[in-house]
Amino acid sequence: MPPPTRTLLVTGASTGIGRAVAKAALARGRRVVATVRRAEDESALRDHARAAGSGEALEVLRLDVTDEEAVAAAPGRVAAFLGPEGRLDELVLNAGIAVPGPLERLPLERLRRQFEVNVFGLVACLQAFLPHVRRARGRVVLVSSQAGRLAFPMLGAYSASKYAVEALGDALRLELAPFGVDVVLVEPGAVATEIWERSLADASDLRAELEDDADYAPLARAVHRGFERAVRHAIPAEECAAAVLDACEAKRAPIRVPVGRDARRNLRLARWLPARWVDALVRRELGIRRR
Ligand SMILES: NC(=O)c1ccc[n+]([C@@H]2O[C@H](COP(=O)([O-])OP(=O)(O)OC[C@H]3O[C@@H](n4cnc5c(N)ncnc54)[C@H](OP(=O)(O)O)[C@@H]3O)[C@@H](O)[C@H]2O)c1
Repeated sequence: MPPPTRTLLVTGASTGIGRAVAKAALARGRRVVATVRRAEDESALRDHARAAGSGEALEVLRLDVTDEEAVAAAPGRVAAFLGPEGRLDELVLNAGIAVPGPLERLPLERLRRQFEVNVFGLVACLQAFLPHVRRARGRVVLVSSQAGRLAFPMLGAYSASKYAVEALGDALRLELAPFGVDVVLVEPGAVATEIWERSLADASDLRAELEDDADYAPLARAVHRGFERAVRHAIPAEECAAAVLDACEAKRAPIRVPVGRDARRNLRLARWLPARWVDALVRRELGIRRR
């Protein structure tokens, strides 16, 4: 008898890493539930699956992770696809945004938005789908970031949200061990996805907003240049998706998976160098001068 087909759910699959995870999981023979927010993204994913001959293996769920009621109702909405036992082998919590801005000037509502999506939305999805993962003694993958262990200027809100994801992952790993559920923190460096265009657009708005701000305009310009450099060296989303799926399939679940040369290097430095040295490296990289 062939082994039962595994089912993976990934949030934020309209673009970038999430979309690449959904496609790669279908290509590796999984049944996939992909969440998106827009009708056109649902059609694009369905068209892709049909063209690849795996139309039956895909279910698309329209879901905003900040909509608590919709998230709570989500498992019911995919119950038929999950089957009578409602088993979910892999839950990849990936949906995320990056809100740039200097913390001194950042409107609190933007900070809240950052946490609504990356932290509260992630926990809401976790709570909604965990019973299904427990039934399968499956695996939870949290898409964190190198910024979850190394904070960058102008990305304090994003870094804070990813530090929170790291802590959630560490606690969850201990809480779920008795149930045979593994938890993996994936920590990508720069990956070529829409998040950069979105953040660069936000960063351009920010640069315009800070144009006359003598304190922060130079930093906003430096970080904007840093973003542009990072985008040029970013790895493809497919490479990150492969790392996510490898982490799902590894016999022994890894605890943390830095993805990309930059993440591996930066996380090694952050771990072993004194914080002042790390600050000096980041300042040099971004051309930030002390006054
Ligand atoms: N790209 C990188 O360099 C990088 C590095 C480290 C970590 N990451 C992490 O990787 C994850 C995926 O990001 P990405 O780079 O693939 O960026 P992306 O292409 O912008 O994808 C982000 C995904 O999250 C979804 N999303 C945003 N807000 C949502 C909400 N309220 N409800 C549901 N879905 C929502 C987006 O959907 P819409 O299209 O509907 O907005 C999209 O599908 C994020 O957690 C990000 O922090 C990325």
